[in-house]
Amino acid sequence: MTAAEALRAAIPRLRAAGIDDAPGDARRLLAHALTLPPERLTLALPDPMTPPQVAAYEAALAARLTRKPVAQITGARLFWGRSFRVTPDTLDPRPETEILISEALSQPFDRLLDLGTGTGCILLSCLADRPGATGLGVDASAAALKVAADNARRLGLEDRAAFGLSDWFSAIEGRFDLIVSNPPYIAEAEMPGLAPEVRDHEPRMALTPGGDGLAAYRALAAGAAAHLTPGGRLLLEIGPTQGASVAALLAGQGLRQIRILPDFDGRDRVVLATAGR
Ligand SMILES: C[S@@+](CC[C@H](N)C(=O)[O-])C[C@H]1O[C@@H](n2cnc3c(N)ncnc32)[C@H](O)[C@@H]1O
Repeated sequence: MTAAEALRAAIPRLRAAGIDDAPGDARRLLAHALTLPPERLTLALPDPMTPPQVAAYEAALAARLTRKPVAQITGARLFWGRSFRVTPDTLDPRPETEILISEALSQPFDRLLDLGTGTGCILLSCLADRPGATGLGVDASAAALKVAADNARRLGLEDRAAFGLSDWFSAIEGRFDLIVSNPPYIAEAEMPGLAPEVRDHEPRMALTPGGDGLAAYRALAAGAAAHLTPGGRLLLEIGPTQGASVAALLAGQGLRQIRILPDFDGRDRVVLATAGR
């Protein structure tokens, strides 16, 4: 069987399982089975597949048919131009989080704190593009922290990135000129309506703090001023309906210059604030 034939056969199977981008997923999984970068797949399509490649593709498709996310099957996700290892213990980095990176890099910083670091994608993307800066990534998941530390090593950033267990600010000492976080923000009531890839396969603690979805922002707002240098910046990813509530929480803690930034679809995505001088 050629790779093209395998691809043609896979697409209707994925479509029948209700997978939105069946052609895209079939291609990404085929590139993974052939151990090729996705952009090289087209050239390999006329080639016959070896039995181990056929078996690898079948295993990947079988996993995808259970609605396992592609990134958990391939073990990797491209984010801000770099590949991050992704496991069932980490949130699959989302493209909309790149808005936060772009804003973080728009001004100078030397010392960065990332709360709820997951794969480390925010911390490590910022450090990679800001040579000389150092950072600390914390999470309440020890398993996620192992993945983040591995990503730091793969990206050659282990000398500038440290990681530790912390319930938001509880184990944090000192001040930072930039604090970033993409916390869990889905309200409990919205969980049943999520796509199976998210609801059934991503870590619950990465998705929801329970209740109204704002508990993490309350903790982050309460601790931010005590951990920012004068004039330091706080950047928080939010769900599209949470801008006003999160802005009010930050204002209530004395943070200033509060702004809400949209994502590429025009939906509110990041709240930023500055500590007083
Ligand atoms: C939405 S995920 C974001 C992961 C990563 N920063 C990203 O943007 O892809 C939220 C992260 O917060 C972590 N988390 C949940 N509760 C926490 C807590 N109380 N303290 C610290 N981290 C927490 C989760 O384990 C998860 O890694």
